[in-house]
Amino acid sequence: MRKQIVAGNWKMNGSNELLNSFVPALAEEAKQSQAEILVCPPALFLGDMRRLAGEYLLVGAQNCHEAVSGAFTGEISADMLADMQLSHVLVGHSERRAIYGETDALIAAKTKAALNAGLTAVLCVGETLEEREAGRTLDVVLGQVSAVVEQLTLADWANLVVAYEPVWAIGTGKTASSEQAQDVHQAIRAALAEYSPEHADAMRILYGGSVKADNAAELFACPDIDGGLVGGASLNSDEFISICRSAN
Ligand code: 13P
Repeated sequence: MRKQIVAGNWKMNGSNELLNSFVPALAEEAKQSQAEILVCPPALFLGDMRRLAGEYLLVGAQNCHEAVSGAFTGEISADMLADMQLSHVLVGHSERRAIYGETDALIAAKTKAALNAGLTAVLCVGETLEEREAGRTLDVVLGQVSAVVEQLTLADWANLVVAYEPVWAIGTGKTASSEQAQDVHQAIRAALAEYSPEHADAMRILYGGSVKADNAAELFACPDIDGGLVGGASLNSDEFISICRSAN
C-alpha cells in the first residue's frame, strides 16, 4: 500500500510566532501518524522549522533554482536545500506557472536539479477553469506530467510525488468532487503506467485545492488519491492536524 502524504504549503504566509506555536505540536503528530506529514513554509523559515521539526516531520521548500550555484540574486538552489537537511521541494505550483511564467521546460529542469540534490520533488500540475470547461483537463494535466517525466529515468521516480491541483479549486473554497479528483488521478496513474506499471503503482499522487478538515477524509479514501497538498487550511494547527488524521 502507498503511504499517504499530507503536505502543507504555507505559500507567502506565516510568521515566527506561527512557527513556534504550531510546529512542535505537528512534530508530535508526525511521530504518531501513519502518513508522512510535510510542511513547506516560506524559505526564510526553513532553517528554524527544520530545527523544530524533529525526526519525523518532513520540511520542504516551495521552489528552487535549477542551477547548483551562481550569480542568481535572490534565488536558492536545490543543493542548498539539501545541505540544510530538507527533504522535499515543490516544483511547478500553478502560482509559479501563472505569476512567474514558469514553463514545463523550466519545471523539468528544476525537478532534475531537485533529484540530483537528493531531494524529493513534488510536481504540481492542474488545469484552469477555462481548460476544464473546454474539455481539455486531461490534455493539460497529462501534458504537464509527461513534460517532466520524459526527462527522468524510472529510478528517479522513487523521489517524485505528483500533486494534482486544479487551478479553479485553489484558494476558492471550491473543492473538486471526489469523483472529479479520482478521475484525474486515475488518468495520471494510467499515463504513468505506460512507462512502467510497477512504478506507476508506487507513485504517490496528492490532491490539492481547498482541502479542509471536512472534505479530506472523502478525498483521501479515493483509490488513486494518496493524500493532499493543503494551502490555507495548513495555517491553522487544529484544522491541519485534523486533515493529517484523515490520511491512511
Ligand atoms: P488551498 O488549499 O488554499 O486551496 O491551496 C491549495 C494549494 O495551492 C496548495 O499548494
